[in-house]
Amino acid sequence: MHPLLFSAISIQGRILKNRLTMAPLYLGYAGEGGSVSEMLLAHYQLMARSGVALVMVENATVSHPDGSGSHRTLRADTDDHLDGLKQLARAIQQEGALAGLQINHAGRFAHATDQPLAPSAVKTFDRMPRALEEEEIARIVDRYAQAAQRAQAAGFDVVELHGGTGYLLAQFLSPRTNRRTDGYGGALANRERFALEVVSRVKTAVGDYPVGYRFLADEWMPDGWHLDESLPFARRLADAGIAYISVMGGTYESFGLPEVVRKSAQPGYMLDLAAAVRAEVKIPVIAAGRLGSAAVAESAIAEGKADLIGLARGLWTDPLWPQKVREGREAEIIHCTPDCGDACTRMVMKGRPAYCVQWPAEKIKEWKAKFV
Ligand SMILES: Cc1cc2nc3c(=O)[nH]c(=O)nc-3n(C[C@H](O)[C@H](O)[C@H](O)COP(=O)(O)O)c2cc1C
Repeated sequence: MHPLLFSAISIQGRILKNRLTMAPLYLGYAGEGGSVSEMLLAHYQLMARSGVALVMVENATVSHPDGSGSHRTLRADTDDHLDGLKQLARAIQQEGALAGLQINHAGRFAHATDQPLAPSAVKTFDRMPRALEEEEIARIVDRYAQAAQRAQAAGFDVVELHGGTGYLLAQFLSPRTNRRTDGYGGALANRERFALEVVSRVKTAVGDYPVGYRFLADEWMPDGWHLDESLPFARRLADAGIAYISVMGGTYESFGLPEVVRKSAQPGYMLDLAAAVRAEVKIPVIAAGRLGSAAVAESAIAEGKADLIGLARGLWTDPLWPQKVREGREAEIIHCTPDCGDACTRMVMKGRPAYCVQWPAEKIKEWKAKFV
């Protein structure tokens, strides 16, 4: 059953035992202040025990508070958090998976600060960010490099730069949010300068160590960042030595648009984006987005649309997904479905740790008793 899903692949010398990865999923499980909590450790242990080859830990901030999405955003910005990160990497690896740490600067979507920073002062919902000065940009580039070194020192097998969801890397790339008139704005060559500086500085800092990239292929906004610019950028990332590209579409500003809500409810809704990127680069490509049907996931690999599958909500809803697929028990999978109206997203947006409303009642009861 599904031989490609369970075949090994190597990414810059790291052997992944199959094509299944956990895509990053922020669920508000870190402690207040961004520490590695018991809830976070238990969660990632379970995700690693599922049998996926690689577990990518959700966005850890490179700079606090200006880079942190919330007060529960995991922190990779100081050595004070190194011991916790070591524990987290070890917990995942002990369950037989490779461990990755995604690092991020939230820019205009930073909610741990009253004064968000961004490439330009472009209002986002009801908040007006302040445009970054050039020396602040240089400082943030350094912060990415330091956080990547911390991921390496903590024992993670790979570090991933979060270029998706409309966070700072994407904010520099998009003509909607980058209105700068200096060397970081204007033509694509200028808008991609920040991201390429981050990649270069991070790679120099970590040496022979895989650096992946969560990639925004299309912002799904009329005046935004689209494939015409993102595909040339993907080639530049591959040329710069990025180990793999993990493809996604949409940002906080487009996720709620009616056509995006409709599209995002479909199985494999970001597969076309992954396929477009994969046709451009020779490095492995991860596809995500409602890939809960093993047949859809297997054919994505068979048809050359992706090399690896990213399961985020689906794996969280049913951590036995890989096992059930492997054993031909797919009918027993508890699926993440759009019917709940993105209950998990709504919980984390309210600053609460999330549980999945599809979990069996007994599991929800146990989870609440233990963690809430
Ligand atoms: C609540 C929530 C939190 C997320 N957090 C992250 C994150 O921290 N980093 C990231 O790159 N993507 C994040 N994503 C996007 C997922 O990785 C994934 O691309 C998306 O959920 C589609 O895949 P799925 O259908 O398997 O969940 C998040 C998605 C949701 C719903």
